[in-house]
Amino acid sequence: MFTVAIDGPAASGKGTISRAIAAHFGFAHLDTGLLYRATGRKTLDGTPALEAAQTLTAEDLQGDALRAPDVAQAASKVAAMPDVRKALVDFQRAFAARAGGAVLDGRDIGTVICPDAEVKLFVTASDDVRAERRWKELTFKGHKVSIEEVLADLRERDRRDSTRADAPMKAADDALQLDTTSLSIEEAVASAVKRIEARQ
Ligand code: C5P
Repeated sequence: MFTVAIDGPAASGKGTISRAIAAHFGFAHLDTGLLYRATGRKTLDGTPALEAAQTLTAEDLQGDALRAPDVAQAASKVAAMPDVRKALVDFQRAFAARAGGAVLDGRDIGTVICPDAEVKLFVTASDDVRAERRWKELTFKGHKVSIEEVLADLRERDRRDSTRADAPMKAADDALQLDTTSLSIEEAVASAVKRIEARQ
């Protein structure tokens, strides 16, 4: 078992880096934000949050609709509920324990879900760069949003995610910091690969 824990704020590049690392090393990858997004999405249809988290299926984790801004906000609201987080712990830990290695990305992977992970990265980028990246992504998918709205949305989620009482977003004491503000995707991935190779 070899676990890579990748945490960081929204649109920091952690998802892209995680996917690339998984492909490079042949590890399985879990985007844990999808669990909260799928739960949040169900609450928008009126399902109580805990019930939504307890009844998630693999199918619920699919689809572009999970990337919509209103779903991101709903995700961050249900993510502040201790019962919801608790309902999702076992699945994440079982995934991390898969043979052959696993990469999990989220907000609390290095601190709560996998405190013994072999490698922990905390990925950051400036607010402006994160907003631009997310704006491009959303616009490409057909969402009509301004960059100011995207920035406000990211900041609101970061504030909620880092100030909640249960499993707030923060770097583990032993996490390596990776600031992607002025890095290309290739440079960011190369830096992450190097850090993982050093621990293998
Ligand atoms: O990573 P992503 O932006 O898709 O995550 C959506 C939301 O899910 C975050 O804003 C956060 O509130 C929540 N989340 C979390 N813990 C994780 C992953 C995501 O609280 N491990």
